[in-house]
Amino acid sequence: MASQMLAKTPEHVPPEAVRPFPLARSAPAKEDPFDVIIPDIHRGPDVFYAPGSHPYGDNAWVFRRADEIRRAFLDNEHFSVTGSPDLAKFFGEEWGLIPIHLDPPDHSAYRQLLNPIFSPKRIELLAVSVESEAKRLVDKFADRGSCDLMAEFATPFPVAIFLRLLGMSLDEMDQYVEWEHILVHNSEPERRSAAIHCVRASLEAALQERRRKPREDVLTALVRAEIDGRKLSDLELLRTAMTLFLAGLDTVTATSGWMFKHLATHPEHQAQIRANPALLDSAVEELARAYAPVTVHRLCVKPYEASNGMQILPGDRVLLSTPIAARDPAAYPDANKVVLDRQPVHITFAYGIHRCLGSHLARRELRVALDVILTRLPEFRMATDAPPPMYFGPVLGISSLPIAWNA
Ligand code: HEM
Repeated sequence: MASQMLAKTPEHVPPEAVRPFPLARSAPAKEDPFDVIIPDIHRGPDVFYAPGSHPYGDNAWVFRRADEIRRAFLDNEHFSVTGSPDLAKFFGEEWGLIPIHLDPPDHSAYRQLLNPIFSPKRIELLAVSVESEAKRLVDKFADRGSCDLMAEFATPFPVAIFLRLLGMSLDEMDQYVEWEHILVHNSEPERRSAAIHCVRASLEAALQERRRKPREDVLTALVRAEIDGRKLSDLELLRTAMTLFLAGLDTVTATSGWMFKHLATHPEHQAQIRANPALLDSAVEELARAYAPVTVHRLCVKPYEASNGMQILPGDRVLLSTPIAARDPAAYPDANKVVLDRQPVHITFAYGIHRCLGSHLARRELRVALDVILTRLPEFRMATDAPPPMYFGPVLGISSLPIAWNA
């Protein structure tokens, strides 16, 4: 195995820099990433080379230190977001996601167009629906004394908000939950391909309808939007709408899953927030810091010398892992401890030009989820002693979270 790994390693990578990446999509998700795996990564080198660590199986460099990850997020000269095979394999080469797979200068015109659609003011308008969706979901199981928080809340909640945001019918909810589930959890290429084609067809139909009958929703805003005096083409609209689907669902599901696992195993933190609801905002920030789920990848386009002297060359891939940054002991005192009033500066939503477009919405969803669950359920705990099943890769997540309370 070791020689096989080294055989695939390019000459500029010293053998001692090669290490496994236990958070890769293909790694066995057995040990807790935050309690066990990431603290162990922080006992190792600042930068290492991990065979098979890229989401599509390539080798990639991994940065460990929060300050180096932040610098790389800001560094569009050495690191590009292009070269991702994500959707190209389903729909063809021109199918990079907008704006997430665009480098400057192409990125900025699209991002400028999207910023006002996701501004704090626009998200504030959604506040009532976000809250009513959360209450509707929690009311279905509040009297029961137990639930699978992932299946019954953390998965459907962001899907419902996504459908409302785009002005689509909640009748499509089960269908969208199923498509998302296949894309996140199913590794069979045919099923994944079928699901992504269905999402495309559904978004395409909704965009066509907005052209005919404009409304007050995000899809209508996209259809009306202009870049340099021209409207977006059908393909540009789809590549943008698809980004919202792919970027805004599993991320919220995963973050809220870790957040509620933490609270189920730390009743003292539930009590602290219940006793002092003014802590809600800082608790969301700290839990989002401590349980950052997203790892993104970049392509090196100009030679880069890493902090520990490693030479990263054009064509090399690099992973920027926000979960690793979140637990860097040099960035946060007691990095592995959740301190509800810490008010951390974190990079869970990234940094630089690709900083999360949906961060205001995500924060709102997480805050409402926390508030509604802590208000409607009494103290809850894990329903079993077994650790919950997890999945690794670009998003670290929990697939099932059975919790219980005295109803
Ligand atoms: C807790 C939930 C979320 C987390 C942790 C998260 C995290 C991230 C991260 C790390 C990036 C940077 C990607 C990169 O640099 O390659 C990003 C970008 C992005 N996110 Fe989020 N996200 C979340 C929720 C959302 C939501 C709800 C939406 C939209 C509805 C959204 C839309 C986007 C978009 C469109 C981008 C690309 C921005 C650009 O390229 O300019 N995200 N997000």
